[in-house]
Amino acid sequence: MLKIALIGYGQMGKLIEQIAQNNDCEIVAIIDPLLGNEITTKTITDADVCIEFSTPDAAFGNIKKLIELGKNVVSGTTGWYDKLDKIKLMVEKKGTGFIYGSNFSIGMNLFFSIIKSTAKLMNYAEEYDLYGLEMHHKKKKDSPSGTAKVLSEIILKNIDRKTLAKYEKLNRKIEKNEFHFASVRSGYIPGMHSISFDSESDTIELKHTARNRNGLAMGTIKAAKWINDKTGFYNFTNKLNEIIG
Ligand SMILES: NC(=O)c1ccc[n+]([C@@H]2O[C@H](COP(=O)([O-])OP(=O)(O)OC[C@H]3O[C@@H](n4cnc5c(N)ncnc54)[C@H](O)[C@@H]3O)[C@@H](O)[C@H]2O)c1
Repeated sequence: MLKIALIGYGQMGKLIEQIAQNNDCEIVAIIDPLLGNEITTKTITDADVCIEFSTPDAAFGNIKKLIELGKNVVSGTTGWYDKLDKIKLMVEKKGTGFIYGSNFSIGMNLFFSIIKSTAKLMNYAEEYDLYGLEMHHKKKKDSPSGTAKVLSEIILKNIDRKTLAKYEKLNRKIEKNEFHFASVRSGYIPGMHSISFDSESDTIELKHTARNRNGLAMGTIKAAKWINDKTGFYNFTNKLNEIIG
């Protein structure tokens, strides 16, 4: 049975705790300032793998401590990826295992593949302009979502006429090379991402809607099992076939 330490006991931490037992995992530590504890050699000593779902401000510091303590980490928190390179160096130096993903849902990762194939096709259909839209619950702290950034990267890589993603509002006409991706925050929406292709005659919309967060928690548990006996720095989407296989 895999022994897991949960770093961050918010919505995701609680959900992972709920499904862990039925998936051959045991939660041996829960770390959250709201519980009045922190990461130390003692608090996480029993864990094989640590799963980090905290806040964009806290993630880097937490992950750094976990690597220093020689722990393998699944990183779910988004909104801190400007420091990802530093984590890669630390992981390689320390010889631990690290896997991160802006979206651990298997369905969303299939959606990434669908968008990639569609973008390759739409690259030749120049009469279509395109845009993205994402919607999340009112408690989400970062915007755009990490998933929106991944989708934008896929679009920019595969559609030559788009070279720049714009997430903020525009007080001017949009440039031809700009790809507009808007974010909405409201209510309890677990997560919606869409990419639309718009011509004078019609609109093609590709949309992923999460029904709940269970898919995210299941993907995270699979990633934890996969990284348990590994060293190195990995991205969930790139390793999807091995993880779900
Ligand atoms: N990668 C994915 O698939 C995925 C899925 C869902 C959410 N997320 C991201 O994961 C993060 C957490 O999501 P959530 O919905 O659980 O958020 P949440 O706000 O419900 O919970 C965050 C928790 O982190 C705790 N926290 C704050 N500082 C901390 C610290 N220093 N150490 C440990 N815990 C700390 C808070 O007290 C809170 O309990 C967000 O960045 C969110 O965008 C990613």
